[in-house]
Amino acid sequence: MASTDQVRLLIVEDVPQVAQYIRNLLNSQQQIKLLEVMTDGAKAAAQIGQLRPDVVIVDALLQGRLKGPALIEQIRQANLGVAVIVLTVPQQPLEPDPGRGIHAVLSMPFSGYDLLSRIHGVHAAQQERSATGGSKIFTVFAPKGGVGTTTIALNLSVAIGQASRRTVLVDGSLQFGDLRALLKVPLNAPSIVDLPTDRIAEGDLSDVLWRDPSGIDILLAPPRIEQAEMVSVRDVDKTLSLLRRVYDVIVIDTMVGLDERTLAFLDAADTIIEIVTFDSTTIHNTLTMADTFRSIGYPPTKVRYLLNRADSAGGIDERSLADAIGRVPEHRVVSDGRLVVQSNNEGVPFVLAEPTAQISQDVVRVATELLAVDRTPAGVRR
Ligand SMILES: Nc1ncnc2c1ncn2[C@@H]1O[C@H](COP(=O)(O)OP(=O)(O)OP(=O)(O)O)[C@@H](O)[C@H]1O
Ligand SMILES: [Mg+2]
Repeated sequence: MASTDQVRLLIVEDVPQVAQYIRNLLNSQQQIKLLEVMTDGAKAAAQIGQLRPDVVIVDALLQGRLKGPALIEQIRQANLGVAVIVLTVPQQPLEPDPGRGIHAVLSMPFSGYDLLSRIHGVHAAQQERSATGGSKIFTVFAPKGGVGTTTIALNLSVAIGQASRRTVLVDGSLQFGDLRALLKVPLNAPSIVDLPTDRIAEGDLSDVLWRDPSGIDILLAPPRIEQAEMVSVRDVDKTLSLLRRVYDVIVIDTMVGLDERTLAFLDAADTIIEIVTFDSTTIHNTLTMADTFRSIGYPPTKVRYLLNRADSAGGIDERSLADAIGRVPEHRVVSDGRLVVQSNNEGVPFVLAEPTAQISQDVVRVATELLAVDRTPAGVRR
């Protein structure tokens, strides 16, 4: 393999035996170039900009002036596109948490296979991120209430997360906080209003994100209706630009109507996923919304229609729907009252609860389709 394809690795480890063990495991490896083993966190932080590693292994228990967690935080804030693997011991279990700059975890004792698969895994994900030109925002929106916006946003974000994209779900349903209810989040869990208003920094984000058992991070809406007013358009913009730095994909659930914050969520979207269903009010509102989007200046390609409950036509056939809205919906998800109600009641996304169900496979396919569009170079129509 050519040297340019080598993964440039830096190790920050102050226990000589562990450093030596890793060296030995890497010994016969052509694909990984070990740049250096550093024992001092502060020195590593100072030199990382020049060394330009692709991957850094940091011992969570690193001692000295700059300890392990502080070094990880500094690397994250430096925003150099470096993937971090954190080395820990079973007594101090850690989970990968991109919001905190931890892309993978290696718990001792580990094998050569564990080491290499972590290094290649985080490196491949990093390369994919740069190839796709950074993060994408998918704003899920409907011109009418109750058509499944929240259900689709939640399950879609989980499906995208399963496709190895660092994904965050934003509850843009600011007044009612639909996701709080759906996921049975405790009332005192922090929300977007707990972000400092003036100077929001990347570090503040991880303190307010809800890490759901489904594995995705969620920025919750405020717990009380009147607190929605405390979130300004500027807060929305600032928050999204910070999330873009940390996550590959941001999925936003929205509420009905063109509230100015909802408009900010729509403006920021790379793609608006607009939910349509087979009913005349939705079709009417979809047309009105298309006019509005046109007058705001959104190109038609910014919106992709998702036909929810696609098999519940209720008297309207698919062609009439396509005629009415002027195009065939790009995505479709079937109806499954039993599974949706059960999984919403249990607070478990159906793509996890019953991955083989048709509705789950539909949502996974939507995720794949959206990520494929995401990879299509600008100007190329599919
Ligand atoms: N594909 C589907 N199959 C069966 N039921 C569905 C489907 N999608 C949504 N539902 C049901 O529709 C109802 C509304 O769903 P959801 O709360 O996700 O909609 P919403 O558009 O976010 O509503 P709101 O306007 O209140 O925010 C729920 O009872 C949900 O169970
Ligand atoms: Mg909703």
